[in-house]
Amino acid sequence: MDFMEIIRSRRTIRFFRQDPLGEDMLFELVEAARLAPSASNGQPLEYVIVNEKTQVERVFEQLAWGAYVQPRRDPPAGHRPVAYIVVLINSERELGRFGVVDAAAAIENILLASWSKGIGSCWLASVNRETTVDILNIPAKYRIDSVVALGYPDETPLLAECAGDSIEYYLDDDDRLHVPKRALNTITHVNTFGRRKKA
Ligand SMILES: Cc1cc2nc3c(=O)[nH]c(=O)nc-3n(C[C@H](O)[C@H](O)[C@H](O)COP(=O)(O)O)c2cc1C
Repeated sequence: MDFMEIIRSRRTIRFFRQDPLGEDMLFELVEAARLAPSASNGQPLEYVIVNEKTQVERVFEQLAWGAYVQPRRDPPAGHRPVAYIVVLINSERELGRFGVVDAAAAIENILLASWSKGIGSCWLASVNRETTVDILNIPAKYRIDSVVALGYPDETPLLAECAGDSIEYYLDDDDRLHVPKRALNTITHVNTFGRRKKA
């Protein structure tokens, strides 16, 4: 797939097939994160790979899914993620407020690298962090930025245009997710704010 097509076709996946993801593949996804840009090259991020069944089940209980379509994108048993990458910020290495920014760049690399391999993902910030640090035995100087849920897709969400101001994703009568994105020309200004691209 052409790189722009990977970007264009990637959608958040919340229902997954149950084919396993091996450790080598998960390490490769962390490799994509490792190579992301980092403010002052501070590199405060570390990662916990989770693919062992009991741990996967425990982490799942700490997550909240698809707020706009609750509870219809809570993955049911048999459609849950098969692995996670938990993204940690080491407070002793963090430079100012840039840990979160570094994490976002690294996570986007994970999402795109996954998609290029046919693997679906969901970036989750709605995480019960207090419980998750216990489950994963994470030392106090680290905080959980986000959890990336992973697995082969078992749904096919569609890119949509925003209707008016609404940015909420929605499910149609066939339970297919539609994800509206604001139109290119409404968010892009040319040389002067408010000037639009000529038709
Ligand atoms: C910072 C961030 C936090 C997110 N947290 C959650 C979350 O906790 N639960 C969830 O189901 N989706 C979460 N998402 C996924 C968004 O809902 C999703 O990216 C958005 O609806 C756009 O869909 P798309 O990724 O298919 O383009 C998060 C995305 C981002 C960037």
